[in-house]
Amino acid sequence: MNVVTLVGSLRADSHNRQLAQAAVALLPAGSHVANVDFSTLPFYSEELDIEGQTPTSVQKLRQEIAAADAVIVATPEYNGGLPGGLKNAIDWASRPYGRGSLVGKPVLVVGASMSPHAAKWARGDAVRALGVAGAKPIDDTIGLGTSHEVFGGSKVLPDETIEALRAGVSCLTAAVAEANLQAA
Ligand SMILES: Cc1cc2nc3c(=O)[nH]c(=O)nc-3n(C[C@H](O)[C@H](O)[C@H](O)COP(=O)(O)O)c2cc1C
Repeated sequence: MNVVTLVGSLRADSHNRQLAQAAVALLPAGSHVANVDFSTLPFYSEELDIEGQTPTSVQKLRQEIAAADAVIVATPEYNGGLPGGLKNAIDWASRPYGRGSLVGKPVLVVGASMSPHAAKWARGDAVRALGVAGAKPIDDTIGLGTSHEVFGGSKVLPDETIEALRAGVSCLTAAVAEANLQAA
């Protein structure tokens, strides 16, 4: 299975990056995983989005997502919502309208925050934006609250988080198998 991760935090020590890695560790053996770096994308503008003439960073983003069987999105919550950089990447990947690289793509959304609310608004925003872009987000997202207590300390995830990640990855794998069956 070819999977790409989109991590909404650019911090090297990001809790969300570590939560995404915990999900990746549960993927089926032999899976190929790459992280999509969206930090050099320009802000979305329809004036830059001209077929055949889009910036190289945009072409790369779209190709990497298009080539993947599935996507794992890990989002922090910034001021009650999705971080701007991640939303910008979703907006670029959503076009051309109806033919964007996210169309039909199974996506697992996870989110870590320092508050106990576990980035629930950002996870909700991600599911909504991905769905509008034509992706197929897994119904259940996975949140980790007070993430500094885990990643600033033992780095051992609570059992219930590991079980939720296992269930989420299992749904993602099943969605990829289903998509492959329909394509065959
Ligand atoms: C600009 C900014 C806004 C934030 N807003 C929220 C918020 O609305 N809710 C929340 O739970 N945490 C918020 N936080 C704290 C983040 O949960 C915390 O910094 C988290 O570790 C960020 O994820 P990361 O470790 O992957 O970078 C905010 C942090 C920043 C820098």
